[in-house]
Amino acid sequence: MTPRLSVLLLSGAAIFSLAACSPATQGGGQVETAGQVAPILDAADAKDVHSYARPEIARVTHMALDLTADFAAKRIGGTATLDVQAAPGAKEIILDSKGLEILKVTDGNGRALEYALGTADPTLGAPLTIQLNGANKVAISYGSAPDAAALQWLAPEQTAGKKLPFLFSQGQAILNRTWIPTQDSPGIRQTWEARITVPDNMVAVMSGDRLTPNGEKVEGGKAYRFKMDKPVAPYLVAIAVGDLAFQQLGPRTGVFAEPATLKASAYELADTEKMVEAAEALYGPYRWGRYDMIVLPPAFPFGGMENPTLTFLTPTMIAGDRSLVSLIAHELAHSWSGNLVTNAAWADFWLNEGFTVYFEGRIMEALYGKERADQLISLGWDSMQATITDLGGAQAPGTRLHLDLKGSDPDDGMNDIAYEKGAAFLRTIEQTVGRARFDAWLRGYFDRYAFQPTSASRFLEDIRANLVKGDSALEQKLMLDQWVYQPGLPSNVAPPPTAAFAAVDQAVKAFSAGGPVSAVPYQDWETAERLRFLNGIPRSQSKERLAELDRAFSLNASGNSEILFAWLQLAIANRYDPAAPALDKFLSSMGRRKFVAPLFQSLVAQGDWGKAIATRIYGKTRSTYHSVTYNTVDATLKGS
Ligand code: BES
Ligand code: ZN
Repeated sequence: MTPRLSVLLLSGAAIFSLAACSPATQGGGQVETAGQVAPILDAADAKDVHSYARPEIARVTHMALDLTADFAAKRIGGTATLDVQAAPGAKEIILDSKGLEILKVTDGNGRALEYALGTADPTLGAPLTIQLNGANKVAISYGSAPDAAALQWLAPEQTAGKKLPFLFSQGQAILNRTWIPTQDSPGIRQTWEARITVPDNMVAVMSGDRLTPNGEKVEGGKAYRFKMDKPVAPYLVAIAVGDLAFQQLGPRTGVFAEPATLKASAYELADTEKMVEAAEALYGPYRWGRYDMIVLPPAFPFGGMENPTLTFLTPTMIAGDRSLVSLIAHELAHSWSGNLVTNAAWADFWLNEGFTVYFEGRIMEALYGKERADQLISLGWDSMQATITDLGGAQAPGTRLHLDLKGSDPDDGMNDIAYEKGAAFLRTIEQTVGRARFDAWLRGYFDRYAFQPTSASRFLEDIRANLVKGDSALEQKLMLDQWVYQPGLPSNVAPPPTAAFAAVDQAVKAFSAGGPVSAVPYQDWETAERLRFLNGIPRSQSKERLAELDRAFSLNASGNSEILFAWLQLAIANRYDPAAPALDKFLSSMGRRKFVAPLFQSLVAQGDWGKAIATRIYGKTRSTYHSVTYNTVDATLKGS
């Protein structure tokens, strides 16, 4: 039976939205069901084109995972037992899956249930349709494929300790279906619990409460149990397994890392507890209990990932001087924007990221002052402008906040527009209505939709009801619809702060006019100022000038990943051979996509000189990268 026909199996009258069950749906969007609250957003733009799930017929409300991580086979497998809330008359439930080996499906009492895997789409995977036969629980025995896109199985050489392998997952956006058979849609929130069996000498952590911090001895290894009793979007379920140690930072904060990186990690993250306090003072209580972090091996493909209770971090944010901690402010802010109030579909990714960049800036301002916060805003503004140019200019459809992603990989819509245009939008509103009024609205927004999905239409409706309140002059000033639905930047955009980099820009000017390197006060500058300088000087530089810069500022040897990246970009643009060893070393030492992909792209843009270097390096590094990184680089290299 093909899942596409499934709706025909419902008797006509039984086809209805679960959201329509209760009058409480109107407004708050909450549905009381069997003792728990199931948030549902009944809006056209909440429809998720990247999931096969049909939550209006049957939806997953809770998952219980009992899994074993098999490092030799690169397979995580066991049972996923799902609680199902089905509409009366519903015959089946549709789950998402990608590359999973399904062994058996039963109901809660062990009775076999019929199931079918549909045709696999290269991006979305295959629908797994299970005949419910009256069941309100389904238990799926399964295993992941060795090349599951969410998972990276690291060899011991890829870890700091070099002795034990390592496993981590990355769920966002639609990768968790490669290791968990569930409804993998950000609008379908689920509570969860898990029991994870790992080799004796390893530690498992997950993005939920740790019930057994030291594990329990079981046959064949150690079992770790976890629980998340707040409903979360399924992309936020995450796991890491390795040689991990923990250090407490504050009452609710701490950090996991391999023993060899724990001390440096704890030093770098020392301000985290203060960040949580600052965030709460701004926009209300932190609702997740603990805020811990894990510093992963360098193959982790992102800067950070906001997995609830346990932010996942790249070790490339450890600069030794805490200069890159805005990343923590960002991932922490997602505890409100993203994890508490979640984009219902990836078309509104900006509601996660744009709000978070704005909130990140506010946390940075609270902790480190306005100048540092303004510098970050200014750097973000520049990268937004560069992205608008890359996407084809202010008319390009890709510069819209709300996107049409039908038929495309959600990853394709995840660029700086969501982050920086989204944040610029909120800054514009803030500056139009004043900070106090804006903050009151934003805090209210988080409270009103806590543990619920959101969408462009919900956001617009809410801000009109609770901030604009019928003030037609204000409505006109804000240009809300234009911001959300039109490309480019509306005319009311709040300008970026200019004073914060005045001195650096002066130095850029002098250097560009031929001034000496010795006149650049680089050593007095903070990281943001150094970045502004390196990104601000003309792209075309002579070999002599580059050599002078390197000699004066030790750029090839920089231990700050952001600075090294900015320098390497400048070096590649000038086919500067003396930077090649540093470039090789950097690309061989970490797999963060934000660094890896643009560097390969810049190499390829340099013709034969760069292509030769790219091919040589990628030949040895590709297999060390996570799928999100090598898929992006593959596309770049194929296009050349
Ligand atoms: N949630 C994102 C990471 C992400 C985005 C994963 C899209 C998968 C798909 C995370 O919060 C993030 O934005 N990380 C940034 C750092 C941030 C400071 C801009 C990163 O990884 O560079
Ligand atoms: Zn983010």
